[in-house]
Amino acid sequence: MASLTSKRALATRRLLSLILAISLSSRMFIIGEFHCNRGSWRKSILKGTKLWLTFGGIDGREGTVLLDDKPIKRFSFKHLVAILDHSADAITTVDKRLRFTFWNKGAERMFGWRTEEVIGREMSIIVPEEREGEFREVLRIVEEKGYLEGYQTERITKEGRTVPVEITLTAVRDEGGIEYSAIHRDISKRKKLERELQRSLNNLRKILNQTVNALASAMELRDPYTAGHQRRVTQLVCAIAQEMGLDEEMAKGTCIAASLHDVGKIHIPIEILATPTERLTEIELKMIKTHPRFGYEILKTIEFPWPVAEIVLQHHERMDGSGYPAGLRGEDILLQARILAVADVVEAMNSHRPYRSAHGMKKALKEISENRGLLYDPDVVDACVRVISEKKFQFDS
Ligand SMILES: [Fe+2]
Repeated sequence: MASLTSKRALATRRLLSLILAISLSSRMFIIGEFHCNRGSWRKSILKGTKLWLTFGGIDGREGTVLLDDKPIKRFSFKHLVAILDHSADAITTVDKRLRFTFWNKGAERMFGWRTEEVIGREMSIIVPEEREGEFREVLRIVEEKGYLEGYQTERITKEGRTVPVEITLTAVRDEGGIEYSAIHRDISKRKKLERELQRSLNNLRKILNQTVNALASAMELRDPYTAGHQRRVTQLVCAIAQEMGLDEEMAKGTCIAASLHDVGKIHIPIEILATPTERLTEIELKMIKTHPRFGYEILKTIEFPWPVAEIVLQHHERMDGSGYPAGLRGEDILLQARILAVADVVEAMNSHRPYRSAHGMKKALKEISENRGLLYDPDVVDACVRVISEKKFQFDS
């Protein structure tokens, strides 16, 4: 019994260092690691500041925290034990064999096990089976760094219920070897809120997609050719973006921009759109060239989380500055617009028009390869060629 009491006292002493460190920090992060040594702890890592904890004995005695030899906090052991025990967080320690040596009342409330049931038992009783491998990796980091904050994972209660938790882990070393202290915070409410936010976000995304589709459908009614073109260009743009390893968000924005890239043609008379370029008058040609700007004006009013309006504005820019409307060069053109430019040309050449048959994929690839680095971004051309030649990309409709 005496040995159990002294073990608990030692475990408590180790934890006090953690609690004190936290209470001494205005920003609630651990500022120091204290070492227990014959009734006193010392050493801190607060940028060269000396942080001392002097402690005369164990039960009922008072201690003082000194910062640069000035007393800044007095406390009694009983008081600190009460803080530990009644903390809303579950505070535990395990020895190097991962057996519990300390278990506060917060842990009893969170996990349902009573202190006397868990002391000496392996911590695997609260770790879900599928998390065991992960936990060993976490311990390796803690051993190396000394601590780990904000580790989000799951634990299981005595009844088998899963609790999402955020854990602050600290390695406590002294002559007795290593122990690990853990402060578990129940984050069920936060996770629930995150799920609700995610649901709202998904709903907003759905509404956004529906809005984009509605806009594209409105175009289809007026100009079926352009609507089909936008749909097919989007397929190729998405494939190129994936091939180039664009992050998910950037790829999503590029695909949305592709699906609306010719929306500015909505204000151009249909007869002009149906006339081959070489038969257009200069004024009509100029009119056609206004579509990126008109598209920009339409789309800039929608607060997309991506630069959709800017991508649309730049989709006829070319690497050598020969494009329109601004004659931008090279990397002044958004990467998303450089992708869209290549897919746009490939699709246009590969499609039938009312006044001509399709040039075919071979010719389209020849066009972009011959102008690789001149008109079109070389990386985009390479990705496009790989997607079509090696990955056998095909337009759906
Ligand atoms: Fe266009």
